Amino acid sequence: MGGSGEVGATWAVVAAAGTGERLGIDRPKAFAALGGRPLLAESLDRLDRCELIDAIVVAAPPEWEEPSILLAEELAASKVVACVTGGAKRAQSVAAALAEVPEEALVVLVHDAARPLVDDAMVQRLLALLGEGYDGAVPVLPVADTLKRVRDGVVVETVDREDLVAAQTPQAFLAPALRRAFAGDLTGATDCASLVERAGGRVAVVAGDPRLLKVTTPADLALVESWL
Ligand code: CTP
Ligand code: MG
Repeated sequence: MGGSGEVGATWAVVAAAGTGERLGIDRPKAFAALGGRPLLAESLDRLDRCELIDAIVVAAPPEWEEPSILLAEELAASKVVACVTGGAKRAQSVAAALAEVPEEALVVLVHDAARPLVDDAMVQRLLALLGEGYDGAVPVLPVADTLKRVRDGVVVETVDREDLVAAQTPQAFLAPALRRAFAGDLTGATDCASLVERAGGRVAVVAGDPRLLKVTTPADLALVESWL
């Protein structure tokens, strides 16, 4: 682990604390094997090598803090300055990691370990939008399927998908806006942008990347592995 004492402007938070229920293996999803190393290694490696990022905090699954630190050391990911224990929900894991980000940080990029194929170009595009006056920037993809609202097994509405998109990570935020958002109620938040929006922040979008697929099932893992 690094920790030179000098605080950089741009921090990354990696949410890796989920159990991976739907993947269904004997360990947390962040430690599922991808290309011969833990899934978490891919994002850590990529974010550590990204010149736009100064420091990284990892939210690890309970009891997997030590393996997470060892992984960062093995990767020589020297920007990883802290590894905290995640919470019951994603937002709580991010909150725990955010508590390790110093007041002086200007920008926080929050990323899911479950999306291993993060790249510099995406980080660059997101940070550029923050420079244009937005509180947050998120990658989004158009929704392909027809969307329906269902109650008790019956369709009550077909939703107009014209202006609907699917949000990915990484998501970039001005640090004060993200902190304000996390000072409020975290219930029901499945991404960070929703909290910033709820707090009145302006969140812009960039074109998402299909390769930023979130690994959820074994089939997803195989697909991402084929893209490595
Ligand atoms: N996450 C987290 N803390 C939690 C839950 C999720 O840090 N309490 C992270 C996961 O590690 C993942 C990301 O948030 O990188 C997206 O969550 P998801 O894909 O749902 O992962 P899991 O919750 O682990 O998977 P599942 O829902 O199948 O259990
Ligand atoms: Mg989950």
